Amino acid sequence: MLRLENKVALISGGAKGQGAAEAQLFASEGAHVIFGDILDAEGLKIESKITENGGSAKYLTLDVTSEDSWNTAVAECINTFGKIDILVNNAGILIEKNIEDTSEAEWDKVQSVNSKGVFLGTKAVIPYMKENGGGSIVNISSAAGIIGSQFSAYGASKGAVRLFSKSTAVSYAQYNIRCNSVHPGFIDTDMINHKGGIIGDEESTKKTLERSPLKMIATAMDVALGVLYLASDESRYVTGSELVIDGGVTAK
Ligand SMILES: NC(=O)c1ccc[n+]([C@@H]2O[C@H](COP(=O)([O-])OP(=O)(O)OC[C@H]3O[C@@H](n4cnc5c(N)ncnc54)[C@H](O)[C@@H]3O)[C@@H](O)[C@H]2O)c1
Repeated sequence: MLRLENKVALISGGAKGQGAAEAQLFASEGAHVIFGDILDAEGLKIESKITENGGSAKYLTLDVTSEDSWNTAVAECINTFGKIDILVNNAGILIEKNIEDTSEAEWDKVQSVNSKGVFLGTKAVIPYMKENGGGSIVNISSAAGIIGSQFSAYGASKGAVRLFSKSTAVSYAQYNIRCNSVHPGFIDTDMINHKGGIIGDEESTKKTLERSPLKMIATAMDVALGVLYLASDESRYVTGSELVIDGGVTAK
């Protein structure tokens, strides 16, 4: 039996990076995957990749900052598959600025995608999970949601996701809805691997590796495997927890 056999999963930010890895992994484990993003061309490529490999997947446009957009995505999920078992709130953005350099608009944008997006997604699926007798919500926070970093707006947004996850867990345990947060460290995706990024060149990668006890930059799949565990029934007794996947960064 596959680990997500006949489960229906909705994943935000699935056009690339970790979300795309989760969409592919979940489909290979038997899930029907609906995944959304604002990057339609990239999302449709991932959809083709999954279906060509025999998986069940559908890409749709989803802007996590819009309640209407979430409601449309959830309605599509229900109309197509009749239920939602799993929500992965994965979409996120990073602005690499300290407090003094962050504008009010930048602050609002980061909170809107990273924090409000998680609230809206959760709010949209809960009625259907209640109806379905339960579900699993996995929220992608960050190591920066546990320890301080110089990227103030990002850290604040990810700290909010950490506590919002616990709030969801305690509020909806009575409906068998579980909710956990995941805290990745340094993952090789476009978010940090770009010109001027945390691992954008040899020098910055060297500095980043010095912060990591395991001296490793992880892959998107390293995180997706942890998300799979929390999404599946293997974690049926796990709620309100923080799964740290960071090579020891927050242990220091
Ligand atoms: N890469 C890292 O080192 C790292 C570390 C810790 C946490 N994270 C978190 O992991 C998650 C996935 O990031 P990633 O590393 O795959 O980066 P990524 O930039 O490759 O992927 C992020 C995805 O989110 C999408 N997105 C952005 N705004 C959106 C919106 N308004 N609506 C819908 N989708 C939107 C992007 O289009 C993109 O496809 C994010 O929440 C990020 O904060 C990443």
